[in-house]
Amino acid sequence: MAEPLLKLENVTAGYGDAVVLHGISLDLPERGSLAVLGRNGVGKSTLLMTIMGYTQMRGGRVIWRGQDISRLAPNRRAVNGIGWVAQEREIFPSLSVVENLTVAARPGPWDLDAVFKLFPRLSERRRNMGNQLSGGEQQMLATARALMTNPALMLLDEPFEGLAPVIVDELIAAMKTMLLDRGIAIILVEQHTDIALELTAEAIVLERGAVAHRAPSAQLQKDTATLERLVGLRVAATA
Ligand SMILES: Nc1ncnc2c1ncn2[C@@H]1O[C@H](COP(=O)(O)OP(=O)(O)OP(=O)(O)O)[C@@H](O)[C@H]1O
Ligand SMILES: [Mg+2]
Repeated sequence: MAEPLLKLENVTAGYGDAVVLHGISLDLPERGSLAVLGRNGVGKSTLLMTIMGYTQMRGGRVIWRGQDISRLAPNRRAVNGIGWVAQEREIFPSLSVVENLTVAARPGPWDLDAVFKLFPRLSERRRNMGNQLSGGEQQMLATARALMTNPALMLLDEPFEGLAPVIVDELIAAMKTMLLDRGIAIILVEQHTDIALELTAEAIVLERGAVAHRAPSAQLQKDTATLERLVGLRVAATA
């Protein structure tokens, strides 16, 4: 069997004395896609931050391409090919769009031309400052900035939160390009269950910091009883 791109073995982690994640294990193959679902406060963002190295590990291991990276600093993980788009987006307000994009760029196929092709809206706004962008444009910029690091894996934390349906559609199209045409693996944290399951191959549902359910996304999509129990009903934005 091919070695997974990312593997979590029994990971327990949190912030200082507060343990948030309890014994999380998962495998993500090269070019794989995983949805992370669950109600507010179950530890979804903490899971992404743990993969990135921003929490305290209490047990278990994070393995990247066969190497134990549990003790590697976040910037080293980024250099190794893990890109992260925080839930808060963290755009630099007083830098222009182009400056936001080039600040963390690394050589590879994703350069300014490529991200502007993916997000034409950003290209039109290239000279605007970060704080002059709409929420949707900020999300595009945060995603594009992570792409500019030329990652093998993108961690996306609720990228559609609070955005208008037309913008959500543009982001979904961009994510499909990233996944299908360019083969970037993704871990997508989402409360829009329907969109997340549509975009991914596999899914886990967290409850109180542990994996309460795992299934292929197509299977979970039809399992409304489990979704109702563990995620709650979410009406699609277009419904
Ligand atoms: N910096 C922090 N320090 C201490 N506790 C934290 C910190 N960040 C989050 N927590 C706690 O960890 C738990 C999980 O939070 P987390 O943000 O991972 O949940 P989430 O599933 O992403 O929630 P949401 O859907 O609201 O984004 C919560 O109890 C939260 O209060
Ligand atoms: Mg969160």
